[in-house]
Amino acid sequence: MNNTYADLIDQTFDFPTNSLELKDNKLHFHGIDIPALMEKYGSPLKVYYLPSIGEKIDEARTLFRDAIRSLKYKGKYHFAYCTKASHFHFVMREVLAADALLETSSRYDIDLIRHLHAKGRLKKKNLLIHNGYKPENYLDAILELAADGFNSLPVIDNPEEFAYLADQLPEDGKLNIGLRLATEEEPKFEFYTSRLGIRAADVKKFYSDAIEKDPRFELRMLHFFVDTGIQDTSYYWNELRKAVRAYAQLRKSCPSLKSLNIGGGLPIQNGLGDEYDYPYLIREIVRQVQDTCRREGVPQPDLYSEFGKFTVGESGATLFEVIGQKQQNDSELWYMIDNSLMTALPDTWGISERFILLPTEQWEGPPVRVNIGGLTCDNSDFYNAESHGGQVYLPKFNSKKKRLRLGFFHTGAYQDALSGYGGIRHCLIPAMKRVLIAQDKDGNLRDWLDTPEQTSEEMMRLLGY
Ligand SMILES: Cc1ncc(COP(=O)(O)O)c(C=O)c1O
Repeated sequence: MNNTYADLIDQTFDFPTNSLELKDNKLHFHGIDIPALMEKYGSPLKVYYLPSIGEKIDEARTLFRDAIRSLKYKGKYHFAYCTKASHFHFVMREVLAADALLETSSRYDIDLIRHLHAKGRLKKKNLLIHNGYKPENYLDAILELAADGFNSLPVIDNPEEFAYLADQLPEDGKLNIGLRLATEEEPKFEFYTSRLGIRAADVKKFYSDAIEKDPRFELRMLHFFVDTGIQDTSYYWNELRKAVRAYAQLRKSCPSLKSLNIGGGLPIQNGLGDEYDYPYLIREIVRQVQDTCRREGVPQPDLYSEFGKFTVGESGATLFEVIGQKQQNDSELWYMIDNSLMTALPDTWGISERFILLPTEQWEGPPVRVNIGGLTCDNSDFYNAESHGGQVYLPKFNSKKKRLRLGFFHTGAYQDALSGYGGIRHCLIPAMKRVLIAQDKDGNLRDWLDTPEQTSEEMMRLLGY
């Protein structure tokens, strides 16, 4: 029997989780009392718990180290962070403090690299993997970095990129490069082959016709990225094996090719019901690479990953207050919140992404099925399903006597970049204030308001008034 919201969670999910627990009827996120934080800073609020970033980097390294040791795999593992998951200076600070390598995606990432270097946070010897489809200004900026002694490795997306680099690189220049292999999309997707990368059937010929003939270039890395992420499905393992076979074929004629970059896609909990056997997933990746290399008689490559969501997702929480209730018909109760889901968590609208959703208090109230409504007038500004398609339940409460606040958790990746932090938003809903939580030199946690809520003056300025 579900008497209270707490009973419902207890009976349905494995709760507490690594990042969330209930103490004295108050929700704690990474040990932080969320109702107390909301009392201090108000609502709505974006929170970033920064120590989790270094912990996730350590976790990824430990997973690969354990798999490599137990399988006696011959290559090494290197962790790279894909900056597009969150470019913020406070994220990059944690990432670089953990000595991660970086993956860039656009021309403007290069300015970020130069800034971090000028501030003494990034060393020139740190490998920079330059991914993405590259307009000439991005390629020029990469060439300039390499000329200035940065350890830049552009991953070639298409033959035109290589032709441009070959044209621009001085006669006596040298450049290490990678190649991106185009993966096949999941069968149910709208197209077959990823638009990024070179088709597996063309890779070997491209190497022998173009790269091998030019002594200024050394092919070091083969990269692939399965868009749907790393999952225990025959589709994923099949794409992985195809990529390793492509590596093996290339490796036979290209001794400088020593690395395989598996991209990003390590999943995180987007719902309390999500469970991932990370040791199994990582061990299986390493085992499959090893197995294929043995069968093909080629050396086992060093492995690189570019985990974005896994690195920063769990650091973020997006907190709202329920400011009104509307019973629109017998079965549809709306909890109206004090900002917009569409603009604060654009993935909920754009790709129907789910996040862990929990009330921050009132767990003693009876659960009631609700739709959550945002403040824009858009009928897409709602949230009413959990990660496994189930309905959303929150505690029933009397707004005249009590308040209800709620949080979406593990929202630290991509949401700010997709919503254009600080820009003009749908229905002029302001960008939320942002609170950071970090460890000081003595290991004590400190929280502070990093950015206040966007002001009307700022919006008017952006709109040209
Ligand atoms: C080339 C590449 N690497 C890494 C990533 C990061 O993926 P995730 O955040 O799922 O780890 C992406 C995401 O789009 C990508 O396109």
